[in-house]
Formats: sequence, C-alpha cells, structure tokens
Amino acid sequence: MARILITSAIPYINGIKHLGNLVGSQLPADLYARFMRLRGNEVMFICATDEHGTPAELAAAEAGVPVAEYCAEMHQVQFRLGQGFRLSFDHFGRSSSERNRRLTQHFAGRLAEQGLIREVVEEQVYSRTDSRFLPDRYIEGTCPACGYERARGDQCENCTKQLDPTDLIDARSAISGSSDLELRETKHLYLVQSAFRERLEDWIESKADWPVLTTSIAKKWLRDGDGLQDRGITRDLDWGVPVRKGGEDWPGMEGKVFYVWFDAPIEYIAATAEWADENGKPEAEWQRWWRTDLGADDVRYVQFMGKDNVPFHTLSFPTTIMGSGEPWKLVDYIKSFNFLNYDGGQFSTSGKRGVFMDQALQILPPDYWRWWLLSHAPENSDSEFTWENFSDCVNKELADVLGNFVNRVVKFGVSKFGAQVPQGSEWTDAERHCANAIAELVADYCAFMENIEVRKASRALRSIWSAGNEYLQAAAPWSAIKTDKERAGAIVAFSLNLINLYGRISSPFIPDASAEILKAMNSPSRDWPANGAEELRVLAPGHRFEPPDVLFRKISKEEVAEWKEEFGGGTRSESR
Ligand code: MF3
Ligand code: ZN
Repeated sequence: MARILITSAIPYINGIKHLGNLVGSQLPADLYARFMRLRGNEVMFICATDEHGTPAELAAAEAGVPVAEYCAEMHQVQFRLGQGFRLSFDHFGRSSSERNRRLTQHFAGRLAEQGLIREVVEEQVYSRTDSRFLPDRYIEGTCPACGYERARGDQCENCTKQLDPTDLIDARSAISGSSDLELRETKHLYLVQSAFRERLEDWIESKADWPVLTTSIAKKWLRDGDGLQDRGITRDLDWGVPVRKGGEDWPGMEGKVFYVWFDAPIEYIAATAEWADENGKPEAEWQRWWRTDLGADDVRYVQFMGKDNVPFHTLSFPTTIMGSGEPWKLVDYIKSFNFLNYDGGQFSTSGKRGVFMDQALQILPPDYWRWWLLSHAPENSDSEFTWENFSDCVNKELADVLGNFVNRVVKFGVSKFGAQVPQGSEWTDAERHCANAIAELVADYCAFMENIEVRKASRALRSIWSAGNEYLQAAAPWSAIKTDKERAGAIVAFSLNLINLYGRISSPFIPDASAEILKAMNSPSRDWPANGAEELRVLAPGHRFEPPDVLFRKISKEEVAEWKEEFGGGTRSESR
C-alpha cells in the first residue's frame, strides 16, 4: 500500500466554474483519487477555493457585496457543486483560512531569512480616476507578445505569458475603463527566483516520465528566462494575506498583501492542516503528508492542473518550497491539460458561453458529464464539446453498451431463473475466452489509470463493457434456453458476474451507476478485482440480487436542439 497525495489546482472564487475548468483539474484528479483508493492505497485528496487577489475583489464589487462575504458564499456554492459532481475531496479548503495566512507568512519569513527576498521601490500603475494602484487584473490592455487586446496585468490568457501591468500596451483601468494612468512609487517584495535556475533546470530535467505538455511548458519558461525573472510577491490591495515575516511586522510593508499566486499553492499544504483541524487530528497527521522529516518521504505527490497553471507549479511554487530551506514535500508528478472548447469557440465565463457546473447538473446526472468529459479529456491537444458528440457518446456508450447490457441480462435472468444467480453448467470456451480477454483489458485499464492516461483508460473501460455485449450476443441465452436450460443458466450466471465486475471497476468514472450496480448485485466485494478470470465466479449460484432501475436514459434530438439554443452555440469567440 502506497501513500498518495493528490491536489487539484484550486479554482478561483469568482463565480461558478464551467465544464472546461472542471475537466482541466478537479475531475481528472478525482478520477485518480478514486482509482488509487480502490486499489487499496492511502489517499489524501485536496482542493480549495482560491480566494485572494483581484479576481475576487472585482467579482465581489460586481456582485455588490463585501469581498469576505462574497467569498464565504461562493465557497459554499463551489463546495456543493463539487459534491454534485461527486468530487471526493478529503478536504475542500479556503485560501483565505487562518492556516493559510499563517503558513504564507511563515514561508515569506523563511525566504527572507535565506536572503531570497529583495525589497524594491518601484513605479506602479496608479489610476487617478480610481484613486488607487492597479495591480494585475485591475488593468487591461494589449499583450506585447501576441497582440491579444484583452490581456490582463498579470498574465495574457491567450499566449499564457506572465506580464507586469507596465508591460501592457494601451493600458486602461478594469474598474472604470479610464486610461488616465500614471506611474507612482511604491515598495514591494521580490522573490529571487533567479537563484534557483540551476536547481529547477536539473529538477525538471530529471522528470523524464512527466507528460510532454508539462515539461515543454516548464522548459520553455526556463529557456526564455521569462519564468525566472525575480517576481513581485506583494500587492497594493486590501484583500489578501497581510505581508508579515512569520509572526512579525514587516517594516515598510504595512497595508500590503501577498500576491495571490504566492499564497494560493501554499493552500495545498494549509488545506491539509485545515483537514486535520476539522477532524480533530493532531499536527502530525497532516505533517506526515507534507514534511519529509515527519513521514512524507514515502508519499507520492501528484498535482493536476490546466496548462496555464504549469509555470507557477514548475517554477514559482517549487522556488518557495526549496527556498524555505525546510523539508517540505516537492511534487513528484504534474499532470496538465489543454483547454476544452465549446461548440466552435471558447468557453467564456464573462460571456456566459458554454455549460457551467450548476447548469450541467440541472439537466443531467453527474455520471453522464463525468463520462463524456473524462473520455474526451484535452490531454494531447485542445478538445471540443458539442451537443451532438455529447449525446451520441452518452446514448451509445452509457445507455447502449453498458446500460443495455445490464438491463438485458437482468431482465432475461429474472424471468427465467428468478432474482438469483442460476446454477448452470460448466464454463465453455466462450466463457473462458471472454474471461481471459476481460482480465487482459482490466490489466490495460489499470496500467493506463496508474499512468494517468485518462482517454486511454476510458477506452479500455469501454472495451471491457463491449466485451460483455459481444459475449452475450454470441452466447445468445435466449436461443440456448429453448434446448438447454443449464447452458442458458451458465450464460446468465457469467453475465451477472460481468455486471458485478463492471460495478467494481467503473466507479472512478461513473461512481453513481457503479454504486447502483453493486447495490443491485448485492456484491460481496467492492475491492479492485485482482484475481483475473476467477473474478467472474465470485457471484456463486444461489446468490440473490435485485434488478436495478434503468441506469442511463437516452438524450433525445429535441433535447439537443433545446440545449443548443439555451446555452449558445456558433463560432463567437471570447475570452475564457
Ligand atoms: N486559481 C488558479 C486558476 O484557476 C489556480 C491556482 S492553483 C494554485 O487558474 F496552485 F495556486 F493553488
Ligand atoms: Zn499574449
């Protein structure tokens, strides 16, 4: 049994996330967490809301509520939607927590002690109209690298380049739209990332097994030197972690807060401490996940995130960890994702284009979304959601291949043999052949899941379901019953065992349907089926079950037309 620490990039607090956000980190992280638990490992699965910085302030201002109140409400909303999608976090924390405030200040203090923080008096963009400095998203303009016109002061979301507000061309205030801006002096803290160039290079270089998407982004940033410029880690904002050195004041930094990207990844650690607090556990219980001197040396730590998050997790956060000079756990594997597009354009939060987590759950149960999203995860390139593709996939793979198999077997079995596994005759070549094929496919599935190859894993699982259909079609118990009831009984018994096996292995993708299957089959074991073909004998003759309800319904053409209309389509392209 291994110990696996899993974190998903923590979603910004500003509003409900769309399906593109979901499939870019939280959902595949959940898939992996569920699989690892099913395999008998000890898992700590952490996520949280990312509550500081300009996105939160701007969204609260737009909603007309104080920012702390806004965050508390939206945290609850995101928490509940996570549950709606069956995201099995051990803890869903808040980056605005007391734990994160203390830990962030602790890291800053340690970095200062190690000589890794510079105090810099610099000129920052100040808006005369708004009477304030305009950090990060408070300022918009044209990206100097790619020409995208709505780049923000912290990052261009079109080309992912990290920016400073002063880099933008034709800059304007995101609050008032005013371009009456000037440069004013203010003091900030800079993290001396450049000191870590070699260590970071060697570290990335040593990760030969990481996805190319992750290492190519990290290497590009290292090569261009862009990622290793010393970065400002403080801001002239009200909302955030107040700048302090451990428990002490930081002279000259009064009224300033840490930059959101400094405190957000620290929340991975802080959220694990929040988990301990909430469950009345001692410090040692969270430290054994994070401190290599206190038990975390044998933890495998895997992070999930969208590609725009990769620079922060391969360069900035590791600098914080390494620079602290303390034995904190560094990430072992980073799984990153491309973007999911929506019907010929981009998902857009501001443009309300696409399907958002709350809307998705209003129209269909979570398994339908989980299956489509995971089986189309944007791993090797961007992928696209269309209603046609979604409904085809649900109707064929979930309703026809899996749902219909379960339904046919159970109906036929109950009508001929009652609600129990029939005695039947011995296995024939047909059963042996199918059982061996399934055992091999399960091994493939397992290997893909271990390597976090999400699409390939979904294809292997689908093949496992199809193998059952093919077997049933060829074995044809409805014909056998006419001449050889024992043979028909053997086919039904074997097929019921297939259903039971499906319930045991499908839960990482479709947890609700799997639970229904296992309940209906009155399954004696929920563990991973590790005993090859023998697993298809575990439901013995006489074992009683209850026919499940229809597992998946089909999506109609009318619904597709209606949803397309409701959620917007066409090729209008807007920002994420
Ligand atoms: N909130 C960021 C986003 O949605 C992700 C933050 S991940 C963390 O892009 F590492 F900073 F926590
Ligand atoms: Zn750009």
